[in-house]
Amino acid sequence: MHLKDKVALVTGAAQGIGNACAQALLEKGCKVGLVDQNAELGEESKNNLDKQFGTQRTIFIPCDVSKEEQLKDAFKKIFEHFGRLDIVVNNAGVNNEKNWEATLQINLISVIKGTYIGLDYMKTENGGNGGAIVNMSSLAGLIPVPSQPVYCASKHAVIGFTRSIAMVSKARNYGVQINTICPGFVNTPILQTVEKEENMGQFLSYKDELKNMMEFYGLLPPSLVAEGLIKILEDDALNGEVMKITTNKGIHFHEYSPLPFPSNKQ
Ligand SMILES: NC(=O)c1ccc[n+]([C@@H]2O[C@H](COP(=O)([O-])OP(=O)(O)OC[C@H]3O[C@@H](n4cnc5c(N)ncnc54)[C@H](O)[C@@H]3O)[C@@H](O)[C@H]2O)c1
Repeated sequence: MHLKDKVALVTGAAQGIGNACAQALLEKGCKVGLVDQNAELGEESKNNLDKQFGTQRTIFIPCDVSKEEQLKDAFKKIFEHFGRLDIVVNNAGVNNEKNWEATLQINLISVIKGTYIGLDYMKTENGGNGGAIVNMSSLAGLIPVPSQPVYCASKHAVIGFTRSIAMVSKARNYGVQINTICPGFVNTPILQTVEKEENMGQFLSYKDELKNMMEFYGLLPPSLVAEGLIKILEDDALNGEVMKITTNKGIHFHEYSPLPFPSNKQ
């Protein structure tokens, strides 16, 4: 996709990876709807982006993605404000093993809902222009993580859902490429949650092990994840792909064995 003048919706855009993705999309000439539940940080982040890109290129919509009506409303506002929608980045996520139901709600159910709402706006079947959806998973979506079993489950599920719905999109000619990104540890505020009982609950005792792993593997800059996002969006051939981003191999793709029963069913 040629990114200039395209409209993107990014969830969890107030800080961290989502914010870096918004910055990279703006640098490519997109307009960006910033969606986040943290209204104060969201406004602050919009103000910072306005200094670089002008006030017209972004809109901030306060929204808890786990509340369906708020999520639908955010899509509607961004579509009406900019007059189109081309890219959805379902990025908002949490690490909370104590309130693990909330983790599933935000990391998985809201990503599924964000994908379906995005398709409603973008798929050619509905008169849309086509587009792209990128769902944020994690390396924890590909390997077991004893300190975060539910976070790990949510990220595995995002990969399974994204690969599957990408096949549907292709078979039904939705014109929407759907992919997922799996970064290793990224230097953002979410990493601080591994030291908090309110987030880790019964798994708090793993905190030193986790910190040692972060030290051993190193932390990725959020900008590298944003670079991966742009790479996916600029390559129309990518669909159902699982991009991995690690300190030792950089941006690359997970390789799967061919499917035994490839489906072209509509
Ligand atoms: N940082 C890492 O090491 C890492 C690694 C792999 C994957 N990820 C994934 O990347 C995504 C972004 O993480 P990050 O590291 O930038 O985290 P972060 O905590 O720095 O930022 C997450 C953002 O999402 C927002 N958010 C959280 N719950 C929300 C909700 N219910 N509704 C709306 N907004 C909400 C927060 O307010 C925050 O601005 C997450 O899905 C995370 O699981 C992070």
